[in-house]
Amino acid sequence: MDKFLIRGGKRLKGEVTISGAKNAALPLMTATLLAAGTHTLTNIPHLRDIYTMQRLLEHLGATCEPIPLLCKEGRGEVDLPHPHPPLTKGRELNNSLEISTDNIRGDDAPYDVVKTMRASVLVMGPLVGRLRHARVSLPGGCAIGARPIDLHLKALHAMGAEIVLHDGLVEVKAPKLHGAHVSLDKVTVTGTENIMMAAVLAEGTTIIENAAREPEIVDLANYLFSMGAIIEGAGTDRIIIEGVRELRPAAHTVISDRIEAATFMIGAALTGGDVTIKNAPIHNLETVVGRLKEAGVKFEEAHGNLRVTGPQRPVSVDVTTAPHPGFATDIQAQFMALMTVSEGTSIITETIFENRFMHVPELGRMGARIAVEGPTAVVKGKKELVGAQVMATDLRASASLVLAGLVAKGETEVDRIYHLDRGYEKIEEKLRALGADIERIPSE
Ligand code: UD1
Repeated sequence: MDKFLIRGGKRLKGEVTISGAKNAALPLMTATLLAAGTHTLTNIPHLRDIYTMQRLLEHLGATCEPIPLLCKEGRGEVDLPHPHPPLTKGRELNNSLEISTDNIRGDDAPYDVVKTMRASVLVMGPLVGRLRHARVSLPGGCAIGARPIDLHLKALHAMGAEIVLHDGLVEVKAPKLHGAHVSLDKVTVTGTENIMMAAVLAEGTTIIENAAREPEIVDLANYLFSMGAIIEGAGTDRIIIEGVRELRPAAHTVISDRIEAATFMIGAALTGGDVTIKNAPIHNLETVVGRLKEAGVKFEEAHGNLRVTGPQRPVSVDVTTAPHPGFATDIQAQFMALMTVSEGTSIITETIFENRFMHVPELGRMGARIAVEGPTAVVKGKKELVGAQVMATDLRASASLVLAGLVAKGETEVDRIYHLDRGYEKIEEKLRALGADIERIPSE
């Protein structure tokens, strides 16, 4: 398994361009299943999760070009994807992806895929919408909590689907899919997306109450709208969808990644750096920008770019994660890395996932003083972290360890960085271009 070796103490300085958002790209890719024909998605990031989704779509009968993948003969086979797919000779990696969905033959997301990427459940809504049936392996437990899909299923049931669970598989059959009034007990992002994607081809009106308001939901709604869907209210907690008989293929550009942007902001904040973030989705980052300002970080906005200047030493700030527009759980670990070297004590409360402090013991190995009690971490800032061997446990936890390594004294070795390859495009190249001393050590 590849590792990162980071020699801390370098100030981040320069420009970084933010890639397309993984969490927007994944539902957009599955939405292509809703309409036969060729769809074009641009600003798709090169990430392991994107390749996994490509493989899953190919397994269902779609073809994906031109982000090239060397598929095995016989597209029915689903293997674990390579972190970087081998290139077909003479082809360059490209950030657009053409997905043709004329021949959707399969209706299943097999366990091999779902276990590596929980977002595979996002094929369920579109398959039920288009084929009226789907089979998806249950995601089971994952590193950051139980993460059930009961709310997805409850909504589909209300829309007329019959749901059968057996052998770790959920089978959904809905020959008469109809609109429904769905009130979600909890705000769920992929749940809202699945319901939207089933509802666009259901008969009648679907109303989703307590819908997720994340920018990725709005991006999906915009794409569905350009495919001919009738949707109102995306970005609010009440989404209304009028089902249509058929959708048409469309072209769409993926929004930029607010979590990646926030990670680089925190990198600048931690290292007392001066980083200009290009393509920053500024309007989607208000809460984190607000907290970083309280911590002493300066922001200047010009021509759609965001210049971030870190203080000499940040001040401790409390945060509590919440669904958008609250403080994103996907930024909690990185923010905690900043708080480990801030002046004062910070209280960080995680309200979305029950087991999302996996980075705490690892940060502790680097000298951080953090005490966890239930959903709350009390972080006592100290002047310095020290480099250590640490292990990444999930995507955002890995990012927090890399960030901590940037300011730690001496060398930090971050193991199991395949998690980072799932969600950060070329992270080490981008950090190196900003002056960080980071190298990838390939596994033997
Ligand atoms: C998405 C994001 C993930 C982010 C998370 C929360 C993608 C691909 N992933 O994950 O990066 O961390 O939103 O912002 O977009 N829940 C249930 N039952 C359900 C569904 C969810 O109880 O049927 C609970 C979950 O256990 C969790 C909370 O609701 O406690 C929110 O989860 P959800 O928004 O569904 O997360 P994901 O969509 O999986």
